[in-house]
Amino acid sequence: MKIAVCNQKGGSGKTTAAMLLAYALGTAGRSVGLIDRDPQQTACRWLETAPGDGVEMARPGISYDFVIIDTPGYVRDPGFVQAIREADKVLLVCSTSPVDVWSTQAAADFVRSKRPDLRPLILFSRFVGHTGFGKSSEAFAKALGLRALKHAIPERQCIQRASLHGYSALPLLERSNLANLAIEVITAKP
Ligand SMILES: Nc1ncnc2c1ncn2[C@@H]1O[C@H](COP(=O)(O)OP(=O)(O)OP(=O)(O)O)[C@@H](O)[C@H]1O
Ligand SMILES: [Mg+2]
Repeated sequence: MKIAVCNQKGGSGKTTAAMLLAYALGTAGRSVGLIDRDPQQTACRWLETAPGDGVEMARPGISYDFVIIDTPGYVRDPGFVQAIREADKVLLVCSTSPVDVWSTQAAADFVRSKRPDLRPLILFSRFVGHTGFGKSSEAFAKALGLRALKHAIPERQCIQRASLHGYSALPLLERSNLANLAIEVITAKP
């Protein structure tokens, strides 16, 4: 299964979400190939810095249980369009703010224009659950016709540091939440 991790907003947490999802699946014993379609190559760099945990850069001719595709933050970038075309599932990573949900709605429309067979899923990132909007973000997205995952990636310093110290350095609670997120992602209807 190929999962594209996208949105048109820079800095929304796409690469972080792509890497955490890849590691969560890899540490669960699944084979995971990573494709970095962003010219910034942050996902590549992250994997070079914190290698292992069942994830490798996808090699041609090798079949993986899951391929995770990181993308540039601009919908008309050829890397973004290519990722949408090749994906079986599209995640739109959205930080927990009403304005970011609005812009994600436009990205979802773009994805559907290219792939009418797919319903993109919103993945809330940098999630702060105790704020008023945190509590209502899923309902807010639904009211705009967007489908949001129940699990989110919380705003945490340890998640930032995972790019240096690796997935296994994350506290058990974070890894457990990410494992549940990964299950929700792979079982959600496309
Ligand atoms: N859940 C989180 N908790 C804390 N910091 C986070 C979290 N997710 C992302 N960040 C931080 O936010 C910044 C942007 O994250 P990231 O690089 O994943 O975004 P991006 O959408 O891939 O950006 P770009 O559009 O430049 O590719 C980074 O400094 C990252 O460490
Ligand atoms: Mg990125």
